[in-house]
Amino acid sequence: MINTSMSGHSLFRRPLTIAVIFLLLITGVQCRRAPTSPTGLVTEKAMVVSAREEASEIGISILREGGNAFDAMVATELALAVAYPYAGNLGGGGFMVYRKSNGDVGALDYREKAPLSATADMYLDSLGNVIPGKSTKGATAVGVPGTIAGVFEVHEKMGSLPLEKILEPVIALAEKGVVVTDNQENRLERYREQIIEISGEETFFYTKCRVGDTLKYPSLANTLRRIMKNGRDEFYKGETAKRLAAFIQERGGYITEEDLAKYEAVWRQPIIFNYKDLRIISMSPPSSGGVTINQIFKMIEPYDIGDLGHNSGEAIQLLTEAFRRAYADRNYYLGDPDFVEIPLDFLLKEDYLRQRMDDFTFKKATRSEAVSHGTVEILESNETTHYSIVDEMGNAVSVTTTLNGAYGSKLYCDELGFFLNNEMDDFSSKPGVPNMFGLIGAEANSIEAEKRMLSSMTPTIVEKDGALWLVVGTPGGSTIITAVAQTIINTYEFNLSMQQAVEAPRFHHQWLPDYIIFEPDGFPESTKEFLRTKGYEINEERTPVIGKVDAIRILPDGRKEGGADPRGDDTAVGY
Ligand code: DON
Repeated sequence: MINTSMSGHSLFRRPLTIAVIFLLLITGVQCRRAPTSPTGLVTEKAMVVSAREEASEIGISILREGGNAFDAMVATELALAVAYPYAGNLGGGGFMVYRKSNGDVGALDYREKAPLSATADMYLDSLGNVIPGKSTKGATAVGVPGTIAGVFEVHEKMGSLPLEKILEPVIALAEKGVVVTDNQENRLERYREQIIEISGEETFFYTKCRVGDTLKYPSLANTLRRIMKNGRDEFYKGETAKRLAAFIQERGGYITEEDLAKYEAVWRQPIIFNYKDLRIISMSPPSSGGVTINQIFKMIEPYDIGDLGHNSGEAIQLLTEAFRRAYADRNYYLGDPDFVEIPLDFLLKEDYLRQRMDDFTFKKATRSEAVSHGTVEILESNETTHYSIVDEMGNAVSVTTTLNGAYGSKLYCDELGFFLNNEMDDFSSKPGVPNMFGLIGAEANSIEAEKRMLSSMTPTIVEKDGALWLVVGTPGGSTIITAVAQTIINTYEFNLSMQQAVEAPRFHHQWLPDYIIFEPDGFPESTKEFLRTKGYEINEERTPVIGKVDAIRILPDGRKEGGADPRGDDTAVGY
């Protein structure tokens, strides 16, 4: 629906309009309450949705054996490290948001951190310019990995099965091998030269892989077996730690045994907010995900987006203007809460967020210069991975984990069997200079020893009427936050099933650069033309895939509907 006469201000001021909106709201709410028929996989009791069928299967096998969602988290996370080395990892980090069946919620931060020797200008040359590639490729780009600390923390505090039982199928998968898919062949082909450039011709990934080949990972199986036997400290203080630190240092990187020994995962208070009758629980800093979607939802709440039409010109306008304002705050205020003071009360105050939208009108686009200034390049990619789990008891786990870039720093440790992250690039190497996602950082996200770099990862859980309703998240760098927001809006406001909400075409705006990007084929020319007439710039050269959302919806009768993103090999498995 396109209604060119509507304006943001008049919408709330005219009594007649208010009456009409009230009517629409009532019918809208009723319509929203009508259960939407599922189109994704539906199961009775439990479900895992992840980037690879093998990982979803292993997660489900743990649930079938009586494990809970947290046991399945450990299994799925490590199975992705085997089956999906593009993003699944031992050499990276991530965030988990959970909701237990009794309603308790919480979050775990196992984000990488800067090594002890890190300094604010470590990626700058003598003239103060960013040295290309130093924070993105090879050993210098690696942050201290958090994944093993994360899974052990989860298992220790929330798990129920013995670790051996959880790791057995993962190790078996590494030994038996994983069949290469079409997507995987393409990815490996695309990055093969870079992997060889960084990791050398002796690397495991030197050999070209073809669809249908089986890749076995004996070194990774050995590393996992040592971890199973010796526990968490094997990775941070044991033989693995020694070999890993030596490997990174021999290649000019910074991580030492002391850095590994000092690493800890941290439990955090998630960001929690209400949107209409939803209660949304998402990741807190050092991820920007929760704060930014909280701002977005509160900014759009007064406008009934459900009545504007799914992906209509006006719905895109409203969301774009909220995205623009939220990302401007994100980039300026957010960083590691253990290092910087984040004015959360102020940033999340409803009055402030309503006021931020005061200058919004449906008549024309706001310019980002009016919110701030600058011109930057934006890159999108899907090299992180998200998985969602719900167990029979109703415990829910939402996890996003990453190496940052595709195969991280492209540095593969053959001896240990995994890639290392290039997460140091998520810091702002120089305030005002964009990182690989085109995100401009400020002082709050500058590099300091032991600080965690700001993330956009947005693992999220949504309650409706006090009960578990959605588990959702995605990869996509800076596009993660807007993709998660659109998926929730698609289900709640536009009545799409979980699978349809995941499949629906997405768009993105991140304040700077000041243009909208659209996925290919999903948006009619008439919608784009409408937006152009309002003064929106559209980057036609960039029509990337935006996100790979893996989500679960709880149906009114308690069954689960999976939303597995067809943009990848993502698969829902359940029983
Ligand atoms: O933490 C972050 O926001 C980024 N390192 C995520 C990277 C990502 O999603 C890459 N793939 N799209």
